Amino acid sequence: MSWQRTGIRAEAIAEGALVAATVGAHSLVLSRVAGEIRAADGVCPHIGGDLADGSMEEGRLTCPLHGATFDFVTGAVRADPFGVAPPEGGVEPLPVFPARTTDGEVEVDLPS
Ligand code: FES
Repeated sequence: MSWQRTGIRAEAIAEGALVAATVGAHSLVLSRVAGEIRAADGVCPHIGGDLADGSMEEGRLTCPLHGATFDFVTGAVRADPFGVAPPEGGVEPLPVFPARTTDGEVEVDLPS
């Protein structure tokens, strides 16, 4: 793991907003939950929906393609695709990554 700059200013991330960021080979989605900036993989673990085009409500991210929802802090699945409650749908948890702000810019701790 190593801290990587995202090029995204912390003030650009409002509570509940979804902001896409690309860092090397990683597509990420950034948001702010309870005032804290959080980062997750930007590609849905179901079949690849662009999670930055999804929606966020009370820390739950919903994929725009088939409606799987994830806890944006832990990555845990809250509802599988098509609204099926876990574990019936079997979608994998969403990878989440530590985030911090350095000189006003968001950095994310990513696998090397
Ligand atoms: S691609 Fe995200 S729920 Fe299907």
